[in-house]
Amino acid sequence: MSNRLKDKVAIITGGAGGIGSAAGQLFCEEGAKVVLVDRDRSTTEAVANDMRNKVPGARVLAIVADVAKDSEALRIVAETEAGFGGIDILVNIAGIREYWRLADAPAESWHDILGVNLLSYAYMAKAAIPALRKSGTGCIVNISSTYGVTGRSGMGQYDATKAGILALTRTLAFEEAEHGVRVNALCPGFTLTPFHFKRAQAAGRTADELRNEKLRECLMQRWADPREIAYPILWLASEEASYITATTLMADGGRPVM
Ligand SMILES: NC(=O)c1ccc[n+]([C@@H]2O[C@H](COP(=O)([O-])OP(=O)(O)OC[C@H]3O[C@@H](n4cnc5c(N)ncnc54)[C@H](O)[C@@H]3O)[C@@H](O)[C@H]2O)c1
Repeated sequence: MSNRLKDKVAIITGGAGGIGSAAGQLFCEEGAKVVLVDRDRSTTEAVANDMRNKVPGARVLAIVADVAKDSEALRIVAETEAGFGGIDILVNIAGIREYWRLADAPAESWHDILGVNLLSYAYMAKAAIPALRKSGTGCIVNISSTYGVTGRSGMGQYDATKAGILALTRTLAFEEAEHGVRVNALCPGFTLTPFHFKRAQAAGRTADELRNEKLRECLMQRWADPREIAYPILWLASEEASYITATTLMADGGRPVM
């Protein structure tokens, strides 16, 4: 265990997912007290237990919540403060995907994806800001996507939420700078999480095929491991980034230059 986040309290939404659990484990390794928030009880508790096993001395709290509901944000913050005594870092990672072309996208899927991918980021920030202001080193890291910056066809609803996260991040950074809270966004590219393994499997492809695939869409020509995304999240959340706010950091293997 190293100490880049020694005794900092970090809430991670989507903490049982691929990038969320990688960030949670790395934060534990760096001495943080970590609150994993996700929607399924058995998965969230299993991920928290896995972290306790892998990182001796890890301090992890699992909270089951639907982050698309604003009242849940207040409960998450209250339980975090009761369990760990404050909040220093909020990492918004929860996300869902929709695969409609915009000409066909139903209203219901718009509501679903806006609720998780954009509104939950706003609700969590609003609920955590009083504690983040008190922290003295408070910060928020919002997970967007390389497609929040560039375009494509077929996932317009998702891409719109990810672009919205970048606007939300900049405004929060403006408004919270005077209160000492930094707010940044990270845009991952193709990251090999269980979500992608399941999709590949459903399409008849093996995990190894996916891992060894030569990606033409980015300079690195390969998928990222979730830990390669967790490191820039860690950096943005740490005091090493103490002069960084309102930034959009790309972690996409050099995709937008192609
Ligand atoms: N994997 C990639 O290639 C990639 C690329 C760019 C951006 N991202 C973004 O990174 C984030 C994590 O991606 P991932 O690949 O790890 O996906 P994932 O599906 O493994 O993780 C997302 C997590 O969010 C949780 N979640 C969804 N709705 C929720 C709700 N209402 N309440 C609480 N939790 C909820 C899910 O249960 C899941 O654990 C997402 O925001 C995604 O858009 C991923």
